[in-house]
Amino acid sequence: MLLSAVDFSHSLLKETVCKGDLVIDATVGNGSDTVLLATLVGPTGKVIGFDVQKQAVENTAQKLLLAGLTDQATLLHQGHETLGDVLADNAKIGGAIFNLGYLPGSDKTIITKKNTTIRAIEALLPKLRIGSYILLVVYSGHPGGMEEKNALLDYCSSLNQSLFKVLQYGFINQINHPPFLIAIEKKKTPYMK
Ligand SMILES: C[S@@+](CC[C@H](N)C(=O)[O-])C[C@H]1O[C@@H](n2cnc3c(N)ncnc32)[C@H](O)[C@@H]1O
Repeated sequence: MLLSAVDFSHSLLKETVCKGDLVIDATVGNGSDTVLLATLVGPTGKVIGFDVQKQAVENTAQKLLLAGLTDQATLLHQGHETLGDVLADNAKIGGAIFNLGYLPGSDKTIITKKNTTIRAIEALLPKLRIGSYILLVVYSGHPGGMEEKNALLDYCSSLNQSLFKVLQYGFINQINHPPFLIAIEKKKTPYMK
């Protein structure tokens, strides 16, 4: 069965995130991705989660509490564009997910934006472990969505193919701008051990 963009992103995380990893949920929202990541990294790992909405951080904290996963997550009520300041210089990231757009059931004007999303991706790329993914679930049907989508497609298409594999995955016969996935994988290059 062909998976939705969100389900496919989860299957890629399950394949690559290991116990003990440091991973990023760049947009925690209602916490579904955060709970998955916290489960995958286990008690020895850490999820750092970002959201600009207080309500999103509180909802996610509650979800983690109910799942008994509080210890392995740090939630930050701030934009993911601050990732470069938050991560240690020598941090190695086992995966990152961005579920973009607005939070369903919340204020539809609070959306992710091209410049801040790209700034966060740029902070993550050098720290990504070889074989791991930065996953972008992209929505374009809301005001501002198409602008972010086009900018991300431009940016990700221009990533050096000798350093990164970039995949676009999505349905092409669905109405109403279905979400699609951009997956960036860090490649092993010949000079790396
Ligand atoms: C589609 S929702 C995320 C859904 C979430 N992953 C889940 O499983 O419920 C997008 C979220 O991005 C947040 N957001 C918008 N701009 C942001 C930014 N610059 N940094 C971090 N989060 C941001 C919104 O507040 C919203 O909660």
